[in-house]
Amino acid sequence: MNRLKIIAVSLLAVLAVATAASAKYKPTVKADVGIYPNDFGATTIDVSHYPPKMKLYYKVFSQKCQACHTIARPINSQFLELTADEIAAAKKTQPEIFKVGPNIIKAEPKIWSRYVHRMMSKPGCPVKQDGKKIWEFLVFDSKQRKMGKNLKSWIANRTKLLNNFKKLYPKDYQHLVSNGSLQPIGGK
Ligand code: HEC
Repeated sequence: MNRLKIIAVSLLAVLAVATAASAKYKPTVKADVGIYPNDFGATTIDVSHYPPKMKLYYKVFSQKCQACHTIARPINSQFLELTADEIAAAKKTQPEIFKVGPNIIKAEPKIWSRYVHRMMSKPGCPVKQDGKKIWEFLVFDSKQRKMGKNLKSWIANRTKLLNNFKKLYPKDYQHLVSNGSLQPIGGK
């Protein structure tokens, strides 16, 4: 190998290592949209057992909600939209949902509706007439993955994302606490 080739090969090796490290420790956001613990979690949902309509809406959601951040952000979000009646019922049957705190599960009427509208109001948002489908999907999907038999694994996953985020990105964590997106973990 001549000198130039050796230099080129070592440069490539350095690049590969750097890329691997950033893929591991950095979230994939596409614009200046801050970072959230959510961005480090799963980027797909297994919808194989969802009704056909929801499978279709999942596609719309996946295409439209990934223009600025990836869909990891909504997929791993603490938001769970329930009506006031559903909240009253769940408090009796699954009180744990409300004991884990809003960093893990934030159960509120209209919460996804509010956030879909908030995203739609951002410049360049491609959601447009698909807002209602995406909202329906998020409401349905959150009930599947954050309640009932999946509640325990949801709590474990989200807790891990939060703790890692606080440890690895303390500045971004503080930012989200100061703007009210997160409650301080363990009082700080
Ligand atoms: C035009 C860019 C853009 C698009 C498209 C977009 N988002 Fe966002 N998203 C942002 C920004 C910026 C933030 C940071 C918080 C804020 O400004 O509201 C954010 C934050 C979020 C959060 C975290 C909110 C929190 O406080 O925990 C969720 C969840 C979310 N987006 C879901 C969605 C969904 C669902 C869609 C599709 C309907 C979507 N986003 C499409 C820009 C976008």
